[in-house]
Amino acid sequence: MTLAFKSETFRDDYTFSNSPEAIRRFPFPFDRDEYMYSINIEQHVPGAVQSTTEFPIDIDEHYVAEMEDRAIVLKEDPLRCQSLPHMLTAEWDLLELLMTSMARNYPEHFTLTRDGARWRWVNRPLGIDRSFTFGDAATLPCGPMEYVTRQCQGDFCLLDQRDNNLWMDAGIVTTQADWSLDFDLGMNFIEWHGPVPLAHDLGVFDRALKFLLNLQQGRPVRRLNWTMTINPRLDTSPENYHRWGIEKAGVTPENVGDKVHLRVELQALWRLPRSNAIVFSIRCYLIKMRELVTQPKWARRFHRVLKDLPPPIAGYKGLERYRQTTVDWLSRHDDGRPTSPGF
Ligand code: HEM
Repeated sequence: MTLAFKSETFRDDYTFSNSPEAIRRFPFPFDRDEYMYSINIEQHVPGAVQSTTEFPIDIDEHYVAEMEDRAIVLKEDPLRCQSLPHMLTAEWDLLELLMTSMARNYPEHFTLTRDGARWRWVNRPLGIDRSFTFGDAATLPCGPMEYVTRQCQGDFCLLDQRDNNLWMDAGIVTTQADWSLDFDLGMNFIEWHGPVPLAHDLGVFDRALKFLLNLQQGRPVRRLNWTMTINPRLDTSPENYHRWGIEKAGVTPENVGDKVHLRVELQALWRLPRSNAIVFSIRCYLIKMRELVTQPKWARRFHRVLKDLPPPIAGYKGLERYRQTTVDWLSRHDDGRPTSPGF
């Protein structure tokens, strides 16, 4: 598929929207009419052609605009990108993973040429042509993690593995659903999941951690997570809650279709070869309600999921202020027909 990159914004005038093709490939996360936390982890194997999982790293029509938004966030708040000193090898591992994957799967946009440690990276959409020495940070304008993730959609956390736990010791996080890298840096898997309701008691985190500690190189896994966002804002961080929190109060029956967005995170995890660290990618996809209801089966199902969402989950996700208004609007698109599992 030839990608045409859109010029659009995720702040201020919010000109972001999805093309009909982007709507069709949206990673709708619900496989039934209700939702509860679970260990929804599967192998990160290639999905259908043109789906968001066709390739390990998904680049789409929002690529250039998302990279511009990331640059704005980092300029305002450099602490969105942090790495503890022992994570440098993992940073290089990440650079290799992303550059090789992007060049292999999108050759018309990215080219990687390697001659031993001498690498040349060409990124045509962003107008970059850079030669550098792999392993020598002085040959890049910034750290390897920051360099490559300023050119790749999605947030990334690098997790060090020690003492039978995973530690969030590096990351770049500019498109997050209300959590803070600066706050979580140095925490372990159980600690940073502390605020999540219900899942600890269900044993979800203990079992997920056990699974991840055994993650094998070359066998990445993925899962979907979701929440909702008012306006197509990528940067919903605690650091700037004063800017976007207020927008929840502006949802009315008239503007639900355009303001309320389903926000889906395609999360993938890879074991890295040199550092034995794990990279956790969080790729955010946004779709407004008016776009979502163009797919009748999604409209029906999301109406039911949202209507019956357990209150602790709705509260944690911060939906309560506009949940009922959205359920009422979606109900017009639910004819009561049974839905099939999966789809
Ligand atoms: C939420 C990070 C893996 C399940 C979160 C939050 C963070 C996070 C920062 C937000 C917590 C807050 O409110 O401050 C990570 C990282 C992972 C990881 C870095 C990589 C090791 C997993 C896995 C599962 C999982 C494997 C599988 C069960 C959840 C759930 C939530 C959550 C259910 C609540 C999401 C919501 O309701 O919106 N995670 N997570 N996480 N995580 Fe993870």
